[in-house]
Amino acid sequence: MRKIGSGNDALSDDQLQALVNRARLPRHVAIIMDGNGRWAEMRGLPRIAGHREGIGSVRDAVTACRELGIYALTIYAFSMENWQRPPDEVNELMTLLEGYLQKEMATLMEHRIRFKTIGQVHRLPASVVHWIRAAESATLANDKMVLTIALSYGGRAEIVEAILKLYDDLQKGLFKRESVNETLVGQYLNTADLPDPDLMIRTSGENRISNFLLWQMAYTELYFTPTLWPDFRRRDFLEALINYQQRERRFGLVKEQIQPRSGVRQG
Ligand code: IPE
Ligand code: IPE
Ligand code: MG
Repeated sequence: MRKIGSGNDALSDDQLQALVNRARLPRHVAIIMDGNGRWAEMRGLPRIAGHREGIGSVRDAVTACRELGIYALTIYAFSMENWQRPPDEVNELMTLLEGYLQKEMATLMEHRIRFKTIGQVHRLPASVVHWIRAAESATLANDKMVLTIALSYGGRAEIVEAILKLYDDLQKGLFKRESVNETLVGQYLNTADLPDPDLMIRTSGENRISNFLLWQMAYTELYFTPTLWPDFRRRDFLEALINYQQRERRFGLVKEQIQPRSGVRQG
């Protein structure tokens, strides 16, 4: 199926990769992988075929991040709202996830990638939770990269949980009311040990964030592409990085304040 040209189509893979500025890489990339169902439907296949094909794109994104030295990659795999999909699709997604975890463990260890999850993971089937916990503990000391998968995740639910926990700790006298600030709130979120995403990619042409990392994306650069997730491979990921690097992040300041020596972090 033809994809919409990016202007880089004539470049070889190596030429494209050479366009990525290693000095301005994002530290954290977040991805809403969307369009698996449509990818399958366009081919007359069941939706699960699209989810299965999408695993190849996950592998490409992880490999590209690891090779380039992007520290954190967070992937939205299953939202709180996705529980409302037909039970067959939910079950198939869980089976696929379990298989992915089993197969990927060796690669995560080999490349020293830490595996983490965010979201209400306890709601997943016990066998999936088992493999998640196994992967989380086996990869705990891996220090080259953090791969976080958002499962049964909702940004609003995460904020509600943080508020409740923070309130309990306040009641216990662990800190004073005056100490509550943005940094402290951030420490109560699932992503406490991750920097905020610098770049968020969403595939499939939907221009929305669907309850993903609401607090954390306050100043994230957003990249929307019509490419469906199973088609979003290494080259597409590199193109997203190049696009990100052409942007000027201002964080509310004026242009003159954001020259490289000013101390405002770029990229
Ligand atoms: C994204 O693909 C994967 C999940 C949400 C689990 P979709 O399943 O949403 O695919 P479309 O949007 O229906 O094409
Ligand atoms: C967002 O995709 C959730 C994930 C990618 C896991 P959806 O396909 O569920 O989002 P909407 O329904 O189009 O907003
Ligand atoms: Mg979708």
